[in-house]
Amino acid sequence: MFDRQKKGDRAVLVLPHSRGEGDTARRAAEFAELVKSAGAEVLGVISARVEDPNPRYYIGSGKADEVAEAARALEADLVLVDHVLTPVQERNLEKHLGIRVVDRAGLILDIFAQRARSHEGKLEVELAQLKHLATRLVRGWTHLDAQRGGAIGNRGPGETQLETDRRLLAERVKMLTKRLEKVQTQRGQQRRARLRNTVPRVALVGYTNAGKSTLFNALTTGEVFAADLLFATLDPTVRKLENLSCGPAVLADTVGFIRELPHDLVAAFRATLAEARDADLLLHVSDAADEERERLHRVVDKVLEEIDAGDVPQLHVMNKIDLAGAEPRIDRDAAGKPVRVWLSAATGVGLDLLRQALGELLGGDRVQSSLQLPLSAGRLHARLKAAGAITGETVDEHGWQLRIDAPRSVIAPLSGGNAAETRLLRELLAPAE
Ligand code: GTP
Repeated sequence: MFDRQKKGDRAVLVLPHSRGEGDTARRAAEFAELVKSAGAEVLGVISARVEDPNPRYYIGSGKADEVAEAARALEADLVLVDHVLTPVQERNLEKHLGIRVVDRAGLILDIFAQRARSHEGKLEVELAQLKHLATRLVRGWTHLDAQRGGAIGNRGPGETQLETDRRLLAERVKMLTKRLEKVQTQRGQQRRARLRNTVPRVALVGYTNAGKSTLFNALTTGEVFAADLLFATLDPTVRKLENLSCGPAVLADTVGFIRELPHDLVAAFRATLAEARDADLLLHVSDAADEERERLHRVVDKVLEEIDAGDVPQLHVMNKIDLAGAEPRIDRDAAGKPVRVWLSAATGVGLDLLRQALGELLGGDRVQSSLQLPLSAGRLHARLKAAGAITGETVDEHGWQLRIDAPRSVIAPLSGGNAAETRLLRELLAPAE
């Protein structure tokens, strides 16, 4: 459904800002980065002071003339505005400028369309794009028919089809919604199955470009998690995480977070981001070489709150230490718990420390003790053995002397064969004095 057109867009950027607004240079650089990651070439940047938005164009009409002139002189085929425009403003601007105008929401949708990897993610993006298009289709596209070209904003559903028959659009939205609901139900079931399996789930989150995908590939083998096969076929962004002291875990990659993610998009991507919400632990990845990393960290935390993942425990990863000139290390809190790991996903330095920290955090709730079992507790002995919880044992005429070391989640679901065994199991699980 997403047509990739070879020809890159040649874009003029418009950056609206108001008085007293923070670091506009940084915002400009970031918007240009977004535009480039969407595959467009930046020909020029025009900043526009907007104190009192013009209802027709959002920017002032004098500024609109200036943009029109620049776009013509630079032979641009697209104007990108770093703000969310109403469909009417976008259309008015297009008419006035004579070329295609895409706002911040349209641009982010386009980036998501290019990056969505999971089946569900692709459905979500297409649905969001169609809805976004639908609001802009009401009065037709005829004013631009001659000029339309390039990729951004066109990378969505085929427009001629949409123009000739809006009914098809409504039908496609309905069909996609239904398909998405079905995928989400399946996903929910798989998630519950995973919960029953008590395999810890870890999700990567972070600002776009922090290095999540690089870290994802560096940590995983590319092998899908066996117990999760159905899920894995639906979503290639979930893989098995091995070589942890706590046993295997599941690692999920998520889409990059972006400043001022338009609100309806946050809603549209709730399901994709559910991986983060349902995780046992979030790996919050930052670019250690980025001066703005603390602000971006807060942006990510804010989005996490919006998708109800604000309470999920986090381990902070300071990535790209090769650029930042820092040494690999684990920072710990007063209780000795790992809170931050410094590493480089690209060079691999510090990955062992991350594995160590993950093992500690995920396997933190271990039962480690000795246990004396009478010979009459044979069934409990067999169950502990089958669960792999026994790390040492001696036996004599009084019974077994066992060394137990296993995650609580492995031991808790076991049951005793009789009342005495149940009591012994309960004592084993009771917190140490
Ligand atoms: P989004 O998909 O936009 O969310 O990005 P991401 O967070 O998945 O980042 P990605 O892994 O694509 O990395 C972004 C860029 O940073 C790429 O060019 C990587 O090669 C680079 N990168 C990632 N980790 C490191 C690192 O440890 N050191 C250096 N020097 N570059 C890195």
